[in-house]
Amino acid sequence: MDRPFHLAWFVSRGYGPKAWRYEWGGDQSRWMMPDLFVDLAVSMERAGFDYVMMEDSSNVPYTHKGTHDDYLKYAMATPKLDPAVLVPYMAMATKRIGLVTTMSTTEYPPFLLARLVNTLDHVTEGRVGWNMVTGSNDGGAQNYGLDRQFEHDERYDRADEFVEIVTRLWESWAPDAVVMDREAPLFADGAKVQALHYKGRFHQVRGPLSAPRSPQVRPVLCQAGGSPRGRQFAARWSDTIITSAKDVASMRATRDRIRADAVAMGRDPDGIKVLFLIDPLVDHSPEAAEHRRRILEADVALHVDQHLASASRLSGIDFSRFPLDEPLPKLTSNGHQSVVDRFVGLTPRQVAGRAELGIRFTGTVGQVAGMMAEAMQEAGGDGFLIVHADFTRRYIAEICDGLVPELQRRGLTRRRYEHATFRDNLLAF
Ligand SMILES: Cc1cc2nc3c(=O)[nH]c(=O)nc-3n(C[C@H](O)[C@H](O)[C@H](O)COP(=O)(O)O)c2cc1C
Repeated sequence: MDRPFHLAWFVSRGYGPKAWRYEWGGDQSRWMMPDLFVDLAVSMERAGFDYVMMEDSSNVPYTHKGTHDDYLKYAMATPKLDPAVLVPYMAMATKRIGLVTTMSTTEYPPFLLARLVNTLDHVTEGRVGWNMVTGSNDGGAQNYGLDRQFEHDERYDRADEFVEIVTRLWESWAPDAVVMDREAPLFADGAKVQALHYKGRFHQVRGPLSAPRSPQVRPVLCQAGGSPRGRQFAARWSDTIITSAKDVASMRATRDRIRADAVAMGRDPDGIKVLFLIDPLVDHSPEAAEHRRRILEADVALHVDQHLASASRLSGIDFSRFPLDEPLPKLTSNGHQSVVDRFVGLTPRQVAGRAELGIRFTGTVGQVAGMMAEAMQEAGGDGFLIVHADFTRRYIAEICDGLVPELQRRGLTRRRYEHATFRDNLLAF
C-alpha cells in the first residue's frame, strides 16, 4: 500500500474508572481526575495518532436482571463523568492530536451542542471532533423527560435534522463577519451574521450561533452506525466512521460498502476515513503475549455477568432471561440493532466472550505490526482504532512507544503532523 494508514484510540467505557481490577491500574481512588487521559493524549501525539475518541453514555443502566446491581458491581458502563470536560485538559497538554467526544442527539438540544462544540473548537484551535450518537436504551431516555427511547429509525431521522441545524449554526457567521474595527466602531458586521429560522419536523431553532466560526468551522464528525438507517446517516455526515469488523476477511467488504454508501450520497468516498476496531496485545515474546491474552480471556469467562450486562445495555435485551448455554432465538432490538445481529446463533456465554470489540492481534511488536500491515492491505484503507479492556499506563506505553514506532519504521503510519487542524491531518491521506 502506498499511503500510510490512520490510527486512533477508542476509550471504551468513557471517562470512568479504568482497569480498576487489574494490576498497573494506578491510584484508583483518583479515577475521576483527568491525568490518565492526559497521559494517553500526550503519548498518542508522540506516536502520531490522528485522534482519541471518548465513548459516553449518561445513565446507570438496569437492563440486565432488571437491576443496576451488576453494572455498579463491575463499574460496567457506569460511573462515567462527562468526557467533554476532558477535552480542554487534553488540549492543554498537546498541540496536534484530534480530540473526539461523544454527545447524543437525543439528550442535547441542537443549539446547546452546536455552541459547546464550537467553543471546544475555538479553545483547542481546531482539534475537536464530535462522535454523533443517537442514544439507544430506555434508561438513558428516561433521564431526559421521555418514557422510552424513540424508535430506532426515527432516532436517525431526528439526528439528520439535528446535524443539519448544528452544521448550519456553525456556519451562521460568515468567514469575514468579525471586523474588529476600533475606530468605526464595528466588532462584527450584522449583514454577515445570519439567523436560520429553522422549523423542522422535530426541532425549531432561530439562530444564529452566539459565537463566530471556529478554526475547523465544521469540527470532525465521527459515527458508528451499523444498521441500514445508521449507515445512511453516517454516510451523509461523517468524516470518519468507526466500525467493528468480525475478522480481517470481512474488512474490505465493510469498507467497500461504506464507500458505496458515500457515493450514493453524492460524496467523495475519500472524504470518509473508515477505522476498524482492533485489540492489539504485544509483549517481548509470542508466548508472553499469548499468556496475557489468556489471562484476559479467563477473566471474561469468570465474570460472565459483567459482559452479559454490557450486551444487555447495548441491545436493550435482558440476556439473563435465556439459558446460558443454549443458542439464542432470533432477536430484535430498539437499541443497537447491528450489535444484536452479531449474536444470532450464539449462546449467552458466547455473547459474553465476544463482548469486547476489536479484532485481536497478539504477539511481539514485530509480529503485530506485520499483522496490521496485512490487514490494512486486505481492507484497502483507511486505518485502525485501538481498544483494549486492560487500559493502563503500561498498555498505553506498549502501544505508543512499542508498537507504533515499529509501524513508523516500516513507513506504515505518520511520523509527524503536517497540518494544524485535526480535519486537515485526517484528510491529508
Ligand atoms: C466503536 C464504537 C463506539 C461507539 N461509541 C458509542 C458511544 O460512545 N455512545 C453511544 O451511545 N453509542 C456508541 N456506539 C454505538 C453507535 O453509535 C451505534 O448506535 C451502534 O453502532 C449501533 O448502530 P445501529 O443502531 O445503526 O445498529 C459506538 C459503536 C461503536 C462500534
